[in-house]
Amino acid sequence: MKTIVLPAAEDLHIHLRDGELLKFIAPLAKAGGAGRVLVMPNLKPYIKNTEQALIYKKQLQLAEPELEYLMTLYLNPNLTVAEIQKAAENGIIGIKSYPKGVTTNSESGLENYEIYYPIFAEMEKYNLVLNIHGEMPSNEAQNICIMNAEEYFLPNLERIHQNFPKLRIVLEHITSKAAVELIKRLGITVAATITPHHLELTVDDWAGQNHNYCKPVAKYPVDRQALREVIKENNSKFFLGSDSAPHLKSLKENACACAGVFSSSHLMPYLAEIFDKLNCLEQLENFTSRFGQNFYQLKPLNKSIKLVNIPNQIPDSFKINFLKDELVPFWAGKNINWQVELI
Ligand code: NCD
Ligand code: ZN
Repeated sequence: MKTIVLPAAEDLHIHLRDGELLKFIAPLAKAGGAGRVLVMPNLKPYIKNTEQALIYKKQLQLAEPELEYLMTLYLNPNLTVAEIQKAAENGIIGIKSYPKGVTTNSESGLENYEIYYPIFAEMEKYNLVLNIHGEMPSNEAQNICIMNAEEYFLPNLERIHQNFPKLRIVLEHITSKAAVELIKRLGITVAATITPHHLELTVDDWAGQNHNYCKPVAKYPVDRQALREVIKENNSKFFLGSDSAPHLKSLKENACACAGVFSSSHLMPYLAEIFDKLNCLEQLENFTSRFGQNFYQLKPLNKSIKLVNIPNQIPDSFKINFLKDELVPFWAGKNINWQVELI
């Protein structure tokens, strides 16, 4: 039986929610093989300042003390230059920007990056990372829709990078060949996260299949191929951010489904399965641990996991008794060939 011992994963983009749901979700993220997670700030209401991020971090630590949490703020008009300094001094690692209205809880997102240039300058000075959800809102006159929203966004990324070449920027959960090509071309301060599901899905897999629907949506086969190739190339600008985004089953199996794929409960088994199939298991550790660690300038984790090559059936769902609802994980019910053990 084949086994692989790896450092616990750095999941550098995760949604852990809050309240009672958080108490359920955070332990599942550990069970999936993560050791450290970068937590998105799109709660309701969103995390707007350092104080709120530190309160949220305490809740996370109570819910699952064995995970390490890297905190982010939501880029918003109330952020001041002084708040950026305070954030940096209190260990906040990044600021997340959401274009207005493109995804879950992004109604407060931004419409114009230039008004944030003084903030970006301060972030560059204090070495904070800008985490970007890179999609343009749909626009009929400009022919922008969810299939090309990422590609149309890319000139914004390039412009911010040109103006702030030392600012570290992560283009989150990339889905397109165009994004892969741009990230490769830009300087070393620009990187991208890739999710397990975008290595697996195309548009055919989410149209009519709400559990695979997330933002940005999976694109064409040629886009998925570009993501797979860059993984196989072992390129250090591309690393894991699961974008695991749990929504209750009742809200997914709904005529108007919420966007988000829940993947943290089986994160490392999914990735082992995918990398195995792509014949690049030897690249897995760089993708799930080293590359992200280096980009974020993090100390190595002293926690390990073991991936075991044995049959593993993904559950149909996790029951959330207090809500009389369920959470359906990615690849629900599927038989895969890898399991994770925490060691
Ligand atoms: C995320 C969520 O549900 O919070 N949804 C998603 O489809 N990825 C928000 C986000 O990261 O876009
Ligand atoms: Zn996300």
